[in-house]
Amino acid sequence: MIPKAELHCHLEGSIPPALARELAARNGLALPDGLFGPDGVYVWRDFLSFLAAYDRVCGVLKTPRDFGDVIYSYLAGAAAQGAVYVEMFCSPERPQALGIPYADWVAALADGIDRAGREFGIVGRIIVVCIRHLGPDRALAMVERMVAEPHPYIVGFGMGGDEAKYEPADFAPAYRLAHDKGYGCTVHAGEVLGPESVWAAIRALPVTRIGHGVRSAEDPALLEELARRGTVLEVCPGSNIALGIYPNRAAHPLHRLIEAGVRVTLNSDDPPFFHTTLGAEYDQARLHEVALRQVTRTAIEASFADMETKERLLKGMQP
Ligand code: ADE
Ligand code: ZN
Repeated sequence: MIPKAELHCHLEGSIPPALARELAARNGLALPDGLFGPDGVYVWRDFLSFLAAYDRVCGVLKTPRDFGDVIYSYLAGAAAQGAVYVEMFCSPERPQALGIPYADWVAALADGIDRAGREFGIVGRIIVVCIRHLGPDRALAMVERMVAEPHPYIVGFGMGGDEAKYEPADFAPAYRLAHDKGYGCTVHAGEVLGPESVWAAIRALPVTRIGHGVRSAEDPALLEELARRGTVLEVCPGSNIALGIYPNRAAHPLHRLIEAGVRVTLNSDDPPFFHTTLGAEYDQARLHEVALRQVTRTAIEASFADMETKERLLKGMQP
């Protein structure tokens, strides 16, 4: 099995329907209205209704243990697909809304990571993510909390949410603080909006990676700039196709990005929502084994883990 590494997967977006049902039952909660269709899969139609469905599944979470069990369950499944390293996007917004203290949430996630590490040998880390449509003030408050209560597994800062809301520059104070305190930075851009969104992100924010970034393929000058900078794209083809950004894998720009010299990784984003997995992304990338191994090496190199961890993981990749 080809060793894999993942840099772009959202915690709540990783909850399979069966786990959502289990958590709701355990917490004595009704399943959120409209969460599942008659076939038992998540219901959404387009990008904004996907974001609403994402919010809906969060309704099954209640206690710190839930968050720990979700990350453990994801890491266990990823390890079975050959993953050696996973960085999970975790937003403090949901635990905060539930009244869970930040330190309790982090401790529960760390416990889930440790359990998975002990049982499956996989290394997990956390990227704290803000939600773009909730605005820059909440993003800055989030980073202030992150730097005030550091944890060795929290290695980066990122932003998801509605790409059409606000400008990247609005979030520069939050990103600047995270970067100055030594956190790696990434941002969703060039997923729903075009190349101008990626230009705005790389000009305004201290990011070494872009979440998605696939629509950069529409602008040769941007591709050249990304290649020159060595910016790594967290590419999620299954997500892009499910959301209708590209009609199928043949139309997806993954290969064009690689040909342009842009560094890419393969990721699942919100796997049960998009009917994909990390393993499926590797299997369906239409790349040879040498190229797939390079994708994993790029992910480890571009990860926000400490140097010692990266070197150990890279060494473990040698055949
Ligand atoms: N949050 C979860 N998945 C996302 C995506 N694909 N784009 C933006 N925000 C997200
Ligand atoms: Zn994402």
